[in-house]
Amino acid sequence: MTCFLGIDLGTSSVKALIMDEAEVVLGTASVPVPAPSHPMPLASEQDVGSWWVAVAAALDQLAATQPAAMARVAGIGLSGQMHGLVLLDEADQPVRPAMLWNDGRAEAEATELQGDGDLARILGVPAMAGLTAPKLLWLQRHEPQSLDRARNLLLPKDVLRLHLTGDRVTDVSDAAGTWLLDEQARTWSDRAIATLGIDRALLPPVVESPTPTGVVRPEMAQRFGLSPGVVMAGGAGDTLAGGLGIGVVEDGRAFVSLGTSGQVFVATDRYRPAPEQAVHSFCHCLPGRWSAMAAILNGASALATVARLTGSTDIAALLAEAEANFTGPSPLLFLPYFTGERTPHNDPLARGVLFGMTPDTTRSQIIQAALEGVAFSLADGIVALNAAGIAVGEAGFIGGGARSRLWARIIAAATGLTLNLYAEGAHGAAFGSARLGRMAAGGPLRAEAPKVVETIAPDARLREAYAPRLDAYRGLYTALKPEFRRGR
Ligand code: XUL
Repeated sequence: MTCFLGIDLGTSSVKALIMDEAEVVLGTASVPVPAPSHPMPLASEQDVGSWWVAVAAALDQLAATQPAAMARVAGIGLSGQMHGLVLLDEADQPVRPAMLWNDGRAEAEATELQGDGDLARILGVPAMAGLTAPKLLWLQRHEPQSLDRARNLLLPKDVLRLHLTGDRVTDVSDAAGTWLLDEQARTWSDRAIATLGIDRALLPPVVESPTPTGVVRPEMAQRFGLSPGVVMAGGAGDTLAGGLGIGVVEDGRAFVSLGTSGQVFVATDRYRPAPEQAVHSFCHCLPGRWSAMAAILNGASALATVARLTGSTDIAALLAEAEANFTGPSPLLFLPYFTGERTPHNDPLARGVLFGMTPDTTRSQIIQAALEGVAFSLADGIVALNAAGIAVGEAGFIGGGARSRLWARIIAAATGLTLNLYAEGAHGAAFGSARLGRMAAGGPLRAEAPKVVETIAPDARLREAYAPRLDAYRGLYTALKPEFRRGR
């Protein structure tokens, strides 16, 4: 039986997954990626070389544990963290570390680019510091020597393609997050290129996500026990691949994802720009489809930060503690904006805040406040989507954060969404990218949703109890916004 491989390059780990034609997952491997570094205020960078080291280790694991399946792989799909800026020199070496999706240093450049409102409608989103193009402008101004040496710009997952097949290509759904793609036309935007003053030759060709882009090089096939001629798909940005993995394809279908970042994502059957709401209206990874997304920068990572600050490495234990002590809203308010926020604030200068502590404050109150803060930021994202005319009522819930039932209950109550939970480990972006790998190898589109193991509807009493807390949360951000500017 033919098999398909999906590889997802996350910010904290790489996941590789192999499945057969019946979509039975035969094996998975997960390898951590070194955490981003912050060499200057607002910056967030990763060593480009560390991605391939992690991916190769994950593929080595699959080659060791699933040799027969690896030999039967016909197609590979890649997905990865979006918006990253990778610049390669003429020897395909990175000219500097990658500037990541949560890098806010291009704040002034993004603000400047917001002046052209028409461009935001073409490019799917207002200019935001973490998107690729404003960071390019920052380099033009602050590090021109890096741009002088650059010959090719790639998105993070496309670096893996270069290793595996030798091709320099990206796909529409990942290109969508660069602030350089005409989302309606699904091609690079001449107008954006001219506005940015960038060399068009830097940009790779863009293909639809299921399109084959090349075949695995013989030495790579040999190393990982693949057969000759394995086809690589265009692939997708991680959010889009995650959506395909749980079958969020038809207009109006939605999911909430809590990984390092968070999203409320809705599939749309046409391009629906809503830059006024800071909604991200991007190409879907299926041709002829688009998406509308509220992108929050601090998802499960906010909880990880609280765990570190409270001296705990055991997040499951912290969640159990919060669950055991849960009686209703925490007396504390928590703004989770450690790396700023995109939807709805588009504010790279916003920062994390814990508000309302007394001598009696407990650790579990702080943990619960963190869960609530992320839930409130998702609620703000849904308000933005609704204001853009996009309704969300029921959504799948995926990502590491979906392992917590308490968090699901809090999110349902804070947002009013009914959340569908899937079996542990349900798939995610690596599974969606394996589906793209199958299509690249000539296979059919498969977009079934996984089995729902539990549905969490908003608890009416809790929803009522959260309403004033959500108001207070919003008020706290508004009150502190000038301070975030002063404190920079
Ligand atoms: C989406 C986004 C994140 C990154 C990191 O807009 O910023 O999903 O792709 O995972």
